[in-house]
Amino acid sequence: MRRTQVGIVGGGPAGLLLGELLAAAGIDTVLLEARDRAYAEARIRAGVLEQGSVDLLDQLGLAKRLHEEGLVHRGIYLQFNGERHRIDLAELTGGKTITVYGQQEVVRDLTAARLAAGRELLFDAEVLGLQGVGPTEPGRPTIRFRHHGEEELLECDLVAGCDGSHGRCLSAFPTELISIHERQYPFAWLGALAQVAPSSDELIYSFHDRGFALHSLRSPAISRLYLQVDPHEDLGEWPDQRIWDELHIRLGAPGWTLHEGQILDKSITPMRSSVAEPMRYGKLFLAGDAAHIVPPTGAKGLNLALADVRVLAEAFQRFLQHQDSTGLDRYSQRCLNRVWKAQNFSITMTGLLHLNPEDDAFGRRLQGARQEYIVQSLAASTALAENYVGLPFVDSGADVQSAPA
Ligand code: FAD
Ligand code: DHB
Repeated sequence: MRRTQVGIVGGGPAGLLLGELLAAAGIDTVLLEARDRAYAEARIRAGVLEQGSVDLLDQLGLAKRLHEEGLVHRGIYLQFNGERHRIDLAELTGGKTITVYGQQEVVRDLTAARLAAGRELLFDAEVLGLQGVGPTEPGRPTIRFRHHGEEELLECDLVAGCDGSHGRCLSAFPTELISIHERQYPFAWLGALAQVAPSSDELIYSFHDRGFALHSLRSPAISRLYLQVDPHEDLGEWPDQRIWDELHIRLGAPGWTLHEGQILDKSITPMRSSVAEPMRYGKLFLAGDAAHIVPPTGAKGLNLALADVRVLAEAFQRFLQHQDSTGLDRYSQRCLNRVWKAQNFSITMTGLLHLNPEDDAFGRRLQGARQEYIVQSLAASTALAENYVGLPFVDSGADVQSAPA
């Protein structure tokens, strides 16, 4: 049997960052990741980091490559039927910016830091079940996992469920003690990674009467593009040229040219919202996608995952080093408070920019009015900018406090 203070399930951004935050506080962790390293580091997902996420990586000294290769943006474009409007994020938020840096690069940096420091990170270690996490169960919890085909046990004081939207940790909650709030949407995103210099200096979120499109980027030589598609769409129906043709139509604006290149990767992700309440059951704490999913239009999923573990690391430290359980008790509420605001923003952005096949003519007119208002009103564009760069972590008037030294 292996032993540690905190057993971390899942080596995505949430689990890896939690491991680094706890290591900085002198707390021992073992991280169990179901997939192999190559797979975990190659998954192409989110790309926008809020200022707070960058600051957190900075504090840990883990942002060197991010600063070298990440692209700092002071604004975004919103486009409605060919008319492009710039939202000046920095000007509207007192200088805050976002950084475009692929999620897989964050995962690579955190994985490299963990392995270089000799902290345990087991790949091919799929968690099968948790025992003894309940609030009235005596003793230390154990995590049962299969490592390279052999079953093993990990005993720990606390368990962090950072195993994403298809993980096992959520199922350890008794059903009567958890509520899952969910919404489905009648669309999905087709994402394409292309070997071509970005055609725009900043991200373009575009509404078109054929559906939403997004022009994002990864580096001076790589573009990241998205198209709204039907959730049941078959990727096989989307040869590369069809993707480009559709992007030309939906992103097109007078005097602007979209450059084409080789598509390196493409996938379809259905869109949904989900929030599990509470995020704690006894000695088990969920973080990131394991607890909540937001539609990607607000670029919040990755940032929420990083924000959760910031609060969790502080709570674990107080408990393990100072026998103070107030952080553990407040964890769920502190995170959910911000999660619901991010959920609201993500749904608002999705509704503003997607063509809803279920909408009637009345709904379309309302959507048009909302689009006009957001770019005409300083108050409305400020609200968008404030949410996009990331809301401060505030609950009951208090910012996150640092744990006692
Ligand atoms: P994950 O990154 O999912 O990490 C969970 C980890 O746990 C994985 O490595 C998984 O292999 C591991 N795991 C699962 N089960 C087990 C188990 N039983 N035992 C051990 N390990 C396990 N967000 C955006 O903002 N913009 C986007 O464009 C965007 N695109 C996305 C596309 C896809 C296909 C997906 C799935 C998500 C996307 N997201 C996007 C959301 C964003 O990527 C997530 O919010 C982010 O990955 C959350 O990080 P996490 O660490 O909580 O979960
Ligand atoms: C990207 C993803 C998003 O969900 C988003 O809103 C903006 C950019 C990206 O992958 O670059």
